[in-house]
Amino acid sequence: MKIAIRYYTRSGNTERLANAIAEELGVTAEDVTVPLDEKTDVLFLGSSVYAGGVDKSVKEFIETNKENIGEIVNISTAALVRSTYKKVKKLAEKYGVKMAEEEFHCRGAFAIFHKGRPNEKDLDDVKAFAKKYIEEKTEKTE
Ligand SMILES: Cc1cc2nc3c(=O)[nH]c(=O)nc-3n(C[C@H](O)[C@H](O)[C@H](O)COP(=O)(O)O)c2cc1C
Repeated sequence: MKIAIRYYTRSGNTERLANAIAEELGVTAEDVTVPLDEKTDVLFLGSSVYAGGVDKSVKEFIETNKENIGEIVNISTAALVRSTYKKVKKLAEKYGVKMAEEEFHCRGAFAIFHKGRPNEKDLDDVKAFAKKYIEEKTEKTE
C-alpha cells in the first residue's frame, strides 16, 4: 500500500503530528509544497485553522495532486475549533477526491492557550491512530 504524508503548518504544531505519523509508519512527511509524484492509496493530510479557515495552499495541494490521491485521512490541530475535517472534505468533494471518515484532531498551542500541545500523549495518540487505520485498511484489501 502506498502511503504519503503532507502537512501545512505555520508554527509547527501540525508538522509535529505529521512527523509522529512518519516515525510510526516509516514514511517521510513533507509540507504541501512537495507534490505527490505517484498515485497514493492513503494520504495523511495535516492542516489547521487560521481566522476560521484553512490556508489556501491546502486547497491548491488537493487541486494539483487530485489524480494521485486515493483518499485523504484528515489530521488537524487548532486552538478552539474541533477539527478541519468539514473544510477539507468540502475541498476534497470539489476535486472529486475521497475523504476517509476517520480523522485525528487535537489541540494546538496558540498564544497563551494550550501550551505544549500537541504533547507527548497527542503524539502517541496520532501514532496509534495511523497504525490502526493502516492495519484495518490492509485487512480490508487482503
Ligand atoms: C493567525 C492565526 C489565526 C488563528 N485562528 C484560529 C481560529 O480561528 N480558530 C482556532 O481554533 N484556532 C486558531 N488559531 C490557532 C491555530 O489553529 C493553532 O495554533 C494550530 O495548532 C496551528 O497549527 P500550526 O502550528 O501547524 O500552524 C490561529 C492561529 C494563528 C497563528
